[in-house]
Amino acid sequence: MGFYSKGFMVAIVPQSALPIEEGAATRFFVEFFNEYCNEQVMDLAQSYPDRRSLIIDFSLLSKYKSELADALTEKPDIYLKAAEVAARQLDVFTPGGAEFAPHVRINNLPYESAYTIQNLGAEHLNKVVRVDGIVTLITQIMPKLQLARWICIHCTRTIDTPVGKTGVEKPSVCPGCGRGDGLYLSEQASGFVNMQRSQMQDPVENIKGNIPAPQVDLWLEDDLVNTLSPGDNVIITGILRLRQNPQSRGGKATPVYSKFFDVVGVEKQQKEFEELALTKEEEDQIVEISRDPHLIDKVIMSIAPSIYGYHEMKEAIAIQLFGGTQFKVLPDGKKIRGDIHVLLVGDPGTAKSTILQYVKELAPKAIYVSGRGASGVGLTASAEKDEIADGGWVLKAGALVLASGGVVMVDEFDKMEPNDRASMHEAMEQQTISVAKAGIVTTFKSKTSVLAAANPKLGRFDPNTPPAQQFDIPPTLMSRFDLIFAIKDVLDEAKDRKLVDHVLTGHMFAAKKQKLSDLKNSPIIPPIMPDLLRKYISYARKNIHPVLSEEAANRIKEYYLSLRRMGAQQNTFPVTAREIEGLIRMSEASAKLRLSNTVELRDSERAIALTHFVLSDIFMDKETGKIDSDIISTGQPKSKVDKMRSVLGIINALEQKLDMVDIDDIVEQAISIGMEENAARRLIDELKRNGDLYEPKVGFVKSSRGR
Ligand SMILES: Nc1ncnc2c1ncn2[C@@H]1O[C@H](COP(=O)(O)OP(=O)(O)OP(=O)(O)O)[C@@H](O)[C@H]1O
Ligand SMILES: [Mg+2]
Ligand SMILES: [Zn+2]
Repeated sequence: MGFYSKGFMVAIVPQSALPIEEGAATRFFVEFFNEYCNEQVMDLAQSYPDRRSLIIDFSLLSKYKSELADALTEKPDIYLKAAEVAARQLDVFTPGGAEFAPHVRINNLPYESAYTIQNLGAEHLNKVVRVDGIVTLITQIMPKLQLARWICIHCTRTIDTPVGKTGVEKPSVCPGCGRGDGLYLSEQASGFVNMQRSQMQDPVENIKGNIPAPQVDLWLEDDLVNTLSPGDNVIITGILRLRQNPQSRGGKATPVYSKFFDVVGVEKQQKEFEELALTKEEEDQIVEISRDPHLIDKVIMSIAPSIYGYHEMKEAIAIQLFGGTQFKVLPDGKKIRGDIHVLLVGDPGTAKSTILQYVKELAPKAIYVSGRGASGVGLTASAEKDEIADGGWVLKAGALVLASGGVVMVDEFDKMEPNDRASMHEAMEQQTISVAKAGIVTTFKSKTSVLAAANPKLGRFDPNTPPAQQFDIPPTLMSRFDLIFAIKDVLDEAKDRKLVDHVLTGHMFAAKKQKLSDLKNSPIIPPIMPDLLRKYISYARKNIHPVLSEEAANRIKEYYLSLRRMGAQQNTFPVTAREIEGLIRMSEASAKLRLSNTVELRDSERAIALTHFVLSDIFMDKETGKIDSDIISTGQPKSKVDKMRSVLGIINALEQKLDMVDIDDIVEQAISIGMEENAARRLIDELKRNGDLYEPKVGFVKSSRGR
């Protein structure tokens, strides 16, 4: 049929080739609006022009006349216009008497026809496409020229030109006087419409490989502005268009074009945690696995099996992936977070990054970012000036917003930007991120659990100092983590031997391209394959909502009180109420892992064992052998805080009489109250380093703060 020869294609489509002639299409749309959307039209007319979008439900239109529906998606520039002409012909009255001329929008394109941003290509240009994804940014609203009115300075004639999506074209000559040099654009006389740019990306749960995910620009016009916010899960119906990139400085047009969506329909989705589609067999398999007596060990062994050791840490990560019971609200309305945060602080080369990457593949929804910000996506959220908004403000959502309902792996947590660090406090506890900058005040949701990795303060742990004093993370932020692991790369011949064997097995397997079945029961084979474990986790998170049993609750109470009692004996309060919530969360996660809706004694035992492991590994005050959470809230063990206070007390007392105090006098008095000389001198040095004291003269100190 086609009149084309090799290498040529006839690009001009004669009107007669349209599937439905334009005028007929208009008549069909009138009929469709009257018969299928009468109520909607009447309702819209009542609030017109405050509301001015008439929405076509695509499935209804397909039912009415499938050729028309197809024509609309194939050639929206013709048929959407026909629909708008039809809407204006409808017999309706608006309360204010305004002429009824709504925008026609399209919703509810079939799910099967949805494209991923990654797969949008030339074949979709100028067609209506549905894309499901998440909004990553919005710009401030900008006025856009809609109708350009040119005025000729020679004969004052005005010429109106319509404005395309790609820009304004100046008429070459004035039709009044025939001269081309006197035309100028009159902003006052031209028509403007609000427009806003936005960006979306494919849903986080569908992205394999690393962020940044492919993005596409969205153009929202008139009443569609301000309908989206960063972090929204949306279904966008739009016309895919090309825009030539702005001219380079030399004035030559670039041959590079970028895609954008001219949005004609916005629908929001309420989903949080992506539920992976499961077959009946897979569900059966999941329930079957949950009955395995060695379930928990199998799950732990399936987390980064190529990494040797770290049993407790992997258990913590397993618990984290399931999370506590979500959406709990206390009687006073306070929302309780179910998300568990885990921090790994360790020496270089101890597989922290490797584990984070592995866990990213296991979590049904996850983003991996580096605290250094090198990965392109921000960590929390930001408002900044940007050229995509022509120098205006854009509001961008970072990983913690985009992965809402999932896990964010933050590598190099200690090297976070200061503003991210500030919002992290709020993000991890209240699970919101507030942005207040240059007139923008807004709050994002960040229902995300954080798995973070960091190095100790000096790059590596000093074995002679308690680990908790070597974290390069503010204590207030540390206290947001439910579990913290210190990974020390210690010399241990027996352990090293096992580790090297473990690593070699993996590498030999990879090099020989062996089959998995050749390696049955080897520790490097996950007992539950990653793909299935992901589905298991997704299933549990969706279907299981554990509630504490009385035994479990009593056990938590007993443990908490025992920790407090221990503190009372040594005159400190070692653990805060925050720990209770953590214990509950972890117990719930343990029950979820078993696919049990009841938190049993064994679940709270697991939470307590993990908590105790962490407390004794990190928060044990080596000087007293007592667990001391003052280390975490002040960065100092309680006994040291006491000593510092005593030393400062001595100095203050001496300063009552003297202008500056002799260090030897301080040490002498410190010894008299039972301190060791070296300890006293170290403390004075530390107080000097901290800026509490300064040395006006060698051998003398003065306190910096007024008494
Ligand atoms: N216990 C272990 N078992 C197997 N492999 C290990 C183990 N510890 C480290 N490795 C290997 O050592 C390499 C370095 O690990 P990785 O880069 O994850 O360390 P890191 O803790 O992130 O270090 P850094 O603090 O320098 O970022 C990886 O290839 C990892 O697989
Ligand atoms: Mg690393
Ligand atoms: Zn003129």
